[in-house]
Amino acid sequence: MENTEKRPVVLSCIQPTSIPTLGNYLGALKNWKEMSRSNDCLYAVADLHALTVHPEPSKLRAQILEMYAILLAVGLDPEESIVFIQSHVPAHAELAWILNCYTMFGEASRMTQFKDKSQKHADNINVGLFDYPVLMAADILLYQANFVPIGADQKQHLEIARDIAERFNNLRGNTFTLPEPYIGKLGAKVMSLQDPTQKMSKSDPNPKASISILDTPDVIMKKFKSAVTDSEAVVRYGEGKDGINNLMAIYSCCTGLDFEKIESEFAGKGYGDFKVKVAEAVIEELRPVRENFDNLMKDKDYLLRTAAEGADKAARIAYRTLAKAKKKVGLLSVN
Ligand code: TYM
Repeated sequence: MENTEKRPVVLSCIQPTSIPTLGNYLGALKNWKEMSRSNDCLYAVADLHALTVHPEPSKLRAQILEMYAILLAVGLDPEESIVFIQSHVPAHAELAWILNCYTMFGEASRMTQFKDKSQKHADNINVGLFDYPVLMAADILLYQANFVPIGADQKQHLEIARDIAERFNNLRGNTFTLPEPYIGKLGAKVMSLQDPTQKMSKSDPNPKASISILDTPDVIMKKFKSAVTDSEAVVRYGEGKDGINNLMAIYSCCTGLDFEKIESEFAGKGYGDFKVKVAEAVIEELRPVRENFDNLMKDKDYLLRTAAEGADKAARIAYRTLAKAKKKVGLLSVN
């Protein structure tokens, strides 16, 4: 991927902590694939970020490869985009250290995800959890990314990445491109099916609350049938209708229909009919992903080889930026 035509650079990453949910898919992965057609894209499995919650090592190793397979299964083409595993490019950790020295304690303390995670993991508030957004800034800035496709929950992390880049550029001269978030209008915040005021999350203990992108059609249908709605029994977008709003957004993302068309399609029909249609649309959307994933997991050598090639391509770009940053801060080079 030589940047001869100067197409915009797009980068994003996903943690391998568990199989992605429909939220990760509609909020991020689906956009990754769409953006890969007209941009120079890099997509990575953020395995270093996953270490902050102390996953069981052998389980993590398996999950990293599974997540890599999922990235290919959703339709990312490793010939067209650079698809790699973060820890295979050591420049990420190196630049993160340099950026640590350009990040203020106060600004990192304001990250809402750090506050939430500290509450959830009160017995393990490690420095990595605190430093998480700086490593994320390194992921982005190493590749001079113009756009970062993410769900709404990562917006604050993008803002701090920009602030760090700006501070560095002001103090040491222009080094990093300032990245912009790319947040889709719909699907940016897919909500829990059981409590539609909360975001759909991989870590939700209630299995009915979230759809895994590898769930079977039966399971998907059951989960949508038990989705929490309201008592009005009218399919329309509105205040106080979080459950229906969420189902309408999901349906819209999968079918391309706008809210007006959805409201007229279900005029006079009950929630039962609507839930079945939403489930069917999601089943069709995810069917190829599950099939591709099953096939890819049969050939682990291919996955490892492709991941290694992706890391080589990423490293070539990353080391150019790292060398520039090292020089700017005054580190001595011997070559
Ligand atoms: P992660 O692994 O938690 O989530 C991956 C992507 O999925 C989006 N997302 C959602 N979108 C809509 N609705 C939801 N319910 C939902 N839940 C999750 C997230 O916003 C994200 O885009 N820190 C990042 C990984 C990361 C990264 C980066 C991202 C590491 N380095 C550099 C961008 C650039 C994370 O934990 O995402």
